[in-house]
Amino acid sequence: MCGIVGYIGYSDVKEILLKGLEKLEYRGYDSAGIAIRNEEGIHVFKEKGRIADLRKSVDPSVAAKAGIGHTRWATHGAPSKLNAHPHQSVSGRFTLVHNGVIENYEQLKKEYLFDTPLKSDTDTEVIVQLIELFVNEGLDTEAAFRKTLKLLKGSYALALLDTEAPDAIFVAKNKSPLLVGLGEGFNVVASDAMAMLQVTDQFVELMDQEMVIVTKEQVTIQNLDGERITRAPYTAELDASDIEKGTYAHYMIKEIDEQPLVTRKIIQAYQSETGKLSIDANILQALNEADRLYIVACGTSYHAGLVGKQFLEKMAKIPTEVHVASEFVYNMPMLSEKPLFIFISQSGETADSRAVLVKVKELGYQALTITNVPGSTLSREADYTLLLHAGPEIAVASTKAYTAQIAVLAILANAAAQFRGRALDFDLVHELGIVANAMEILCDAKEELEQIARDYLATARNCFFIGRSTDFYVGLEGALKLKEISYIQAEGFAGGELKHGTIALIEDGTPVIALATQEGVNLSIRGNVKEVAARGANPCVISMKGLESEDDRFVIPEVHELLTPLISVIPLQLLAYYAALHRNCDVDKPRNLAKSVTVE
Ligand code: M6R
Repeated sequence: MCGIVGYIGYSDVKEILLKGLEKLEYRGYDSAGIAIRNEEGIHVFKEKGRIADLRKSVDPSVAAKAGIGHTRWATHGAPSKLNAHPHQSVSGRFTLVHNGVIENYEQLKKEYLFDTPLKSDTDTEVIVQLIELFVNEGLDTEAAFRKTLKLLKGSYALALLDTEAPDAIFVAKNKSPLLVGLGEGFNVVASDAMAMLQVTDQFVELMDQEMVIVTKEQVTIQNLDGERITRAPYTAELDASDIEKGTYAHYMIKEIDEQPLVTRKIIQAYQSETGKLSIDANILQALNEADRLYIVACGTSYHAGLVGKQFLEKMAKIPTEVHVASEFVYNMPMLSEKPLFIFISQSGETADSRAVLVKVKELGYQALTITNVPGSTLSREADYTLLLHAGPEIAVASTKAYTAQIAVLAILANAAAQFRGRALDFDLVHELGIVANAMEILCDAKEELEQIARDYLATARNCFFIGRSTDFYVGLEGALKLKEISYIQAEGFAGGELKHGTIALIEDGTPVIALATQEGVNLSIRGNVKEVAARGANPCVISMKGLESEDDRFVIPEVHELLTPLISVIPLQLLAYYAALHRNCDVDKPRNLAKSVTVE
């Protein structure tokens, strides 16, 4: 979703802002813009489309040492140059970029701006016009900014330029992510440290309802009552090379290939000195005391949660429910007496999940966040965090984070089982090692999977994924991957469920991808494959070694039955990738999607 950058210092700002915006491209956007300030005033450049289009429209002869930039993912008003940020006040004195959604903007418009001609359809413009209105009524910029912030309902990360305060960028945050970066003789703001890693690795986190005045020498954080807040910076532990594609054509394929390494890193990160997998005792105590676990997540992370439920129930014997965050928040089920909440989120910033976390904390319950991003909102606001150690995931389609989430959930369930005195008949370190090797074999099978994608998906209109038990959950993830990047309508079904309605959609040649990795249901899933084949479908069975049949199209190496999702998903990720390539889709930046979904 929208991304923000800002710089004030001694260098020409254009390239810093454009490069920063390029690093935020992964979040998803449909227009972009920058505003730069020099002695002549503020120069605004914005375009619908890609940063590359914006780059062309920026006048290279205008130099400036302060500026703000924005990538917009449309919520209020169509993606257009007019609605692109930055937005300016009527007089042109104030220029603003905003990430988030202002829920009461219509009301504010009616109450305060009935006389102000608004140019765009955005909620953002209301903010910048309010600031100017309050300045015109006699407040200084800082007071007008604060007064405006107090009126806003919803989420915001804001960066504001004022022509009359040329040495400052005014910044504020509520619910949407925003960091301030520190340098020698300059300071920056960014939605994500990655955007400003080009100039600094020192960042200060901002909390909700804080405003900041950033000059090239100073960063002053205050709450909305004007009280000063001091907070130590942290070093962003990101390697610039982590966020480069290197020789890969796309981030997605790079990230698919990183899965064996990530799995090994996770084993290492959670191994104690004795070589045993270990989890913070406070987390295990919290799990042990809970009478029920509630996993809350969205999209791919929700699919990982479904697999995690199997681990927690089968290994640790703790009853577990899995919920889609956006539903849970408005339709909370009857909770058990001692619930523990587990939030799974690659980004740690997903607004739907955060809304549940806020509610859960209000109710006084404990929460654990499993995330890839240390210091992210969901991590900060939960009682406990487990990290994924997957390195930055840039492609919108989540791949390595999914397998990392499953590996961490397996380690958590394994540790919880031991804590509860339950002996397991396998050694998880050993089994995860086998998984990492199997992942490597699968990542090397690209040619074969590219051929399967060509055979089944190059011209497909729709596609079904079927599986039973754990394979059903992986099928859901396979379908999500395929639809989000190739735009083929794809659905995952429990093998036995198709015949209860959806089988009516099977036509001659409809691709049905069936997973067969679970011994107990192998015969039944094969029965389901026969049912669809008899009605003209073109089945593609992906089975596990030891369970394979003659006509299976692809066989994955054998791993422990509980851990098959970690590897059976890889052929599905690769099928989606090659299907998208064959259909000339923008693999890393699929239409309408954002990497970090920071609005509800
Ligand atoms: O950052 P999160 O894990 O909370 O994100 C949740 C979903 O938005 C995300 O998994 C989404 O479904 C992916 N684009 C799927 O590939």
